Amino acid sequence: MCGIVGYIGTKDSKEILLRGLEKLEYRGYDSAGIAVVNDEGLHLFKEKGRIADLRAIVDESVVAPTGIGHTRWATHGVPSKENAHPHQSTSGRFTLVHNGVIENYSILKREYLQDVTFVSETDTEVIVQLVDKFSQEGLATEEAFSKTVALLKGSYALALLDNEDKETIYVAKNKSPLLVGLGDDFNVVASDAMAMLQVTDQYVELMDKELVIVTKEAVTIKKLNGEVVERAPYTAELDASDIEKGTYPHYMLKEIDEQPLVMRKIIQQYQNENNELHIDESISQAMTEADRIYIVACGTSYHAGLVGKQFIEKWAKVPVEVHVASEFSYNMPLLSEKPLFVFISQSGETADSRAVLVQVKELGYKALTITNVPGSTLSREADYTLLLHAGPEIAVASTKAYTAQIAVLSILAAVTAKTRGVELSFDLVQELAIVGSAMEALCDDKETMEAIAREYLSTTRNAFFIGRAVDFYVGLEGALKLKEISYIQAEGFAGGELKHGTIALIENNTPVIALATQEHVNLGIRGNVKEVAARGANPCIISMKGLETEEDRYVLPPVHEDLSPLVAVIPLQLISYYAALHRDCDVDKPRNLAKSVTVE
Ligand code: F6R
Repeated sequence: MCGIVGYIGTKDSKEILLRGLEKLEYRGYDSAGIAVVNDEGLHLFKEKGRIADLRAIVDESVVAPTGIGHTRWATHGVPSKENAHPHQSTSGRFTLVHNGVIENYSILKREYLQDVTFVSETDTEVIVQLVDKFSQEGLATEEAFSKTVALLKGSYALALLDNEDKETIYVAKNKSPLLVGLGDDFNVVASDAMAMLQVTDQYVELMDKELVIVTKEAVTIKKLNGEVVERAPYTAELDASDIEKGTYPHYMLKEIDEQPLVMRKIIQQYQNENNELHIDESISQAMTEADRIYIVACGTSYHAGLVGKQFIEKWAKVPVEVHVASEFSYNMPLLSEKPLFVFISQSGETADSRAVLVQVKELGYKALTITNVPGSTLSREADYTLLLHAGPEIAVASTKAYTAQIAVLSILAAVTAKTRGVELSFDLVQELAIVGSAMEALCDDKETMEAIAREYLSTTRNAFFIGRAVDFYVGLEGALKLKEISYIQAEGFAGGELKHGTIALIENNTPVIALATQEHVNLGIRGNVKEVAARGANPCIISMKGLETEEDRYVLPPVHEDLSPLVAVIPLQLISYYAALHRDCDVDKPRNLAKSVTVE
């Protein structure tokens, strides 16, 4: 949440910062700002709303070679111009951008800054006022910054400007992601390499509690005790076209359409030279040695974990528990003797999941992260990583990462089964390839999906998704997709559960989207559909070829029953997309949300 950028070099920094912020807008879009410094001093522009709103107020005539920028997802203080970053110290000398949450900000305010008048409600302003205070007490800027950072508790990625020195940007991080990018006669700072791919593909990772002095010629990384750290850069393996919409009206639609390709990429990436499915042996070993797997994740990734549990238990015969990360730390279940933790996170930065990872590592347990982002915090801090190979996912609503997570979990389960001596009765590579083709057919049928959205969802206040067995889990994901982008109140339920209370909400024409992809519960779910239809609901049955009846609204192309979530979710993604469009919602950037949730 929140994205930060910085540029120091020979060119005008304004456009580079603004373009960088546009690429980071997925991290939050409540307000945005840039501060640039030149021989005349500091120029600060900030505005409530999107980067486009900020662009409109930036003075084009200002030319400055050094600057920092921020796009905000509000935590402390409402979205407003006053609470927008960059924040300035009362003296006007220091300006700062921050991503994260300072947990002890009110203590610091009380202890050190009683006589300072704050202009914002943010936790961030404390940091910049502290730097100013220590500077006024006689410390050089680097020392004042270092002393301030040492006092902070919580998460932060920081970039600080001193308007008396346009040659330096001061940077520090703890728990929140931050990279330094390297160029010829310039250097940059960014929460995500995507932001600065416009100028460089060379990046240096920063570790927690490091302080970095960035000039246009050099990047000096120091520990808080002053010791200098040497670290080699890496090349960001991102293609600029991966992060563009191209001819698509929205990233979400592009990412839905990319799913067949992602399936093929995953199959390729996880095959060895004999075309057998393969994962790093240390991972299959850890899976095999564990007496219980604990999957920990949030939101859509949690829903993928529920499907993954089915694969691992059914195919590899290892018991699995799936937990919501934000509940886990204070509600830890009784752990088995040899647990293995599996974190599923598209971004690899989700603070709730990371908090659990830190906790279980402290307890001495092993952890595997399944993520789309190599080098992300959860990947670095776990013992093992499996990558999703889905390419950058930019729309806030996750689509291709969800199906990629399920596909990778299926491969993890199949390889674990093999390592444990359990033979699968089918060829997973072949079945995943069939899934890829089925996905393609579904993505080509957008007209029908749009018609379904219009028919069932154009005026409704609420909607229910029901399913039994694994269809229930896909229904949870369908409901999340619909509510987050169309703001229709949508809930997923186990087919048999609605009648235990929620059926009271069924009125004339309430849409109930029912999934029927599983033979052993086909009759059961159809019975549930009858119950809601008898009370006036407008059921929309989506079934799997072979299980269909005349009353079904959509029939999915046939795939292996265990893999049905990979195809059943696609109509749900597309229906949500069109429902949001019909309601004029901002599909890629729904209200109140951000792509990367880096606060607990
Ligand atoms: C919903 C969505 C979120 C994320 C959740 C976890 O469309 O994207 O529910 O799945 O915030 O994020 P990651 O997977 O990055 O840990």
